[in-house]
Amino acid sequence: MSVIKTFYDTMPDGREVYQYKIENNNGVFVELLTRGATLASFVCPDRDGVLGDILVGFDTLQGHLATTTYAGEIIGQYANRICDGKFTLDGTQYQVTQNENGVTCLHGGGEYNSALWQAIITDDNAVEFSYHSPDGAEGFPGNVDITVLYVLNDHNELEIHYTATTDKKTIVNFTNHAYFNLGTMAGGDVLDHELQLFCDAFTPTDERSIPTGEIRPVAGTAFDFRTAKKIGRDIGLDDVQLVQCRGYDHNFCVSGESGKLRPVAKVSDEKSGRKLEVFSDLPGVQLYTGNFLDGSETGKGGIPLQKHAGFCLETQYYPDTPNQPDFPSCVLEPGKTFKSLTIFKV
Ligand code: BGC
Repeated sequence: MSVIKTFYDTMPDGREVYQYKIENNNGVFVELLTRGATLASFVCPDRDGVLGDILVGFDTLQGHLATTTYAGEIIGQYANRICDGKFTLDGTQYQVTQNENGVTCLHGGGEYNSALWQAIITDDNAVEFSYHSPDGAEGFPGNVDITVLYVLNDHNELEIHYTATTDKKTIVNFTNHAYFNLGTMAGGDVLDHELQLFCDAFTPTDERSIPTGEIRPVAGTAFDFRTAKKIGRDIGLDDVQLVQCRGYDHNFCVSGESGKLRPVAKVSDEKSGRKLEVFSDLPGVQLYTGNFLDGSETGKGGIPLQKHAGFCLETQYYPDTPNQPDFPSCVLEPGKTFKSLTIFKV
């Protein structure tokens, strides 16, 4: 196993961006960038042993800086949406950045994912990224210190460990926004990938993609992935939930006890023979099928990011939890340490 640090590129303001490559003894490797603590590539063999990069994204800093996709980036302080960018903690109302149509807070307003993180190699297969978010950044309370530790082991598991503390009561929801395509970017869309979700329910949304508060069983709906089916099988059904999001862009409630590591999803691609399994201790996962990609951004190898070019499985607290008393709490108190683990296994 090895970790190699290399200079990647220079930010427009002159700061240097570094890349860390972690490779295991099977020849599987990931490439990570200090900008956004980004998971930039995840390379593994297909059924014939041919290596391919299963992440949809960019191969230049320019691409990473220009994109609106959040591809591979660490999202904080609150992944997904907060209604009107408002929430109340102990009677104090907070207004956070309304970066989506001037109304909703999406992915924390863009702070964590566009920051330059500190990085240290902590083992021959591990890199730890850290970031300090000052009190009031994007409107969120608390000086928040976060570390994201990426470990790639010889079971071909990429572990992502999140640890955070605050000095003021706040809300946290961190995720990695990787877009996967097990057939690589050159392999077309992901509609033929078979997906199984260990989720009995999902949280329907309104036309702004804000959860209505309902926790709806998936049984009998297009959202039933309890038995593996093609991502594209039901995506075009005339269901208002699918129509208003142009496909899947929903939080699923992961079965079993939140706080415990458990299976979230299994994906397979018949064409390449590659597989992906996801495990997490978080209560939810956002299945996003790249519905808003429209070919206007050009990614790795000069390939445009077309609709459904990748799928995301963003492990998370449910969207808009701060305004939904019945959703599992995402509050972090001073003196407590937030810890969470998500694993992507190929
Ligand atoms: C959201 C989508 C959004 C995408 C890129 C996903 O987490 O649910 O609505 O388009 O991120 O920002």
